[in-house]
Amino acid sequence: MVEIRQLGEHVGETVTVVGWVEATRAHGKVAFVVVRDGTGLVQGVLLKKEVDEATWDLHAALSAESVVAITGEVRAEPRAPGGHELGITALERRSTADDYPIQPKEHGVEFLLDHRHLWLRSSLQRAGLRVRAEVEQAVHDFFYGRDFVRIDTPILTGAIGEHAGSLFQTDYFGEPAFLAQTGQLYVEAACPAFRKVYCFGPTFRAEKSKTRRHLTEFWMVEPEVAFADSDDNMRLQEEFVSYLVERALERCGEELKVLERDTSLLENVRPPFPRISYTEAVERLTAAGNEVTWGSDLGAADETQLMEGRDLPLFVYNYPKQAKAFYMKENPEDPRTVLCDDLLAPEGYGEIIGGSQREDDLDRLVERIREEGLPEAAYAWYLDLRRYGTFPHSGFGLGIERTVAWITGRRHIRELIPFPRLMNRLYP
Ligand code: 4AD
Ligand code: MG
Repeated sequence: MVEIRQLGEHVGETVTVVGWVEATRAHGKVAFVVVRDGTGLVQGVLLKKEVDEATWDLHAALSAESVVAITGEVRAEPRAPGGHELGITALERRSTADDYPIQPKEHGVEFLLDHRHLWLRSSLQRAGLRVRAEVEQAVHDFFYGRDFVRIDTPILTGAIGEHAGSLFQTDYFGEPAFLAQTGQLYVEAACPAFRKVYCFGPTFRAEKSKTRRHLTEFWMVEPEVAFADSDDNMRLQEEFVSYLVERALERCGEELKVLERDTSLLENVRPPFPRISYTEAVERLTAAGNEVTWGSDLGAADETQLMEGRDLPLFVYNYPKQAKAFYMKENPEDPRTVLCDDLLAPEGYGEIIGGSQREDDLDRLVERIREEGLPEAAYAWYLDLRRYGTFPHSGFGLGIERTVAWITGRRHIRELIPFPRLMNRLYP
């Protein structure tokens, strides 16, 4: 058995390929079957005069997604899907598929999401998820290449990581536990052990929003660096994002073509990225006639407006304290604000990164925890990090699905995770 992606090395040889039937068609005495094996597509060609009757009849009976083994000589054929053809001498059916629900026609999105376990096989979904896998590998390569240590942080937690409003709570032997909204507090603890660390895993937000940018379960990569300030943090972010884009362009050209992504927009993504302060952003939005008041977080419409005419991502830094999480460091130059940044992607994809320098002053951190009404006892261990050798440090979180949606040009982030969890969806 040969994998389809290796057929180029077997031109002129007789090989067997095993996979799923994508499509069949017949024109008089010539028939075709397109087979997908997960590594590519190949077209099998049957000539009625060269195969026995049983084989010819079997071809006519093949249903989509049945598993077949096809044997024949490999020919290069640029017009065939996948670029190769097999002159079939033997055809064997290994399993017979029932009527396949997904047809080559328009289906409603709820139907497709109900059949996500099958929809994964479709070409656009395959392309998008392959780009995701490449980006995930690039995440690890980037940090490994810079001597970061990967820290796996817990999913079950006792302390609220971000905000109380979007927690999934579960019962932990009679005690309340939360699904992690972030691994950040734990990578902060690992900083004094390893200096540069990151975590990468699923995070959970019980967000009651049905937008194209929100999942209730999404994957986040969160680096944390000792002795880095907010400025160092933004530099790491722009290098990181540029690296992810470059890797996708370098290694997923085929997939981006299938997705009809205009890659010229991505080719410019190189550091440095432009930066504006939150206060400047509010001024610009107000000047453009938007209703924003200094003090509230920016909404999706504000972000889109700020990105108009830009093809590089944009940093918006130093938001008002009340708009952001408790752990962000107060800005010594303007204590109404914190040393943080959001990185906005172009083309309407919005915030892909949230990052900040962390509050390293014990008293101020305790004060913030009280102001937010968070249960102090659950943060005793986190406060210890400020008690035993406090140090300046910064980090950020990049959402994988939003980033891959931008890179692939897909509108909805739900297509960039194999099994999306949405407010109204736990199936399949
Ligand atoms: O801005 P957020 O909430 O930041 C944090 O969680 C920090 N603890 C990160 C850190 O500093 N270590 O989330 C970070 C990113 C967002 O910019 C976005 O890309 C993604 O996570 N994100 C979501 N993606 C999909 N669905 C959701 N509901 C998301 N919420 C956040
Ligand atoms: Mg954020």
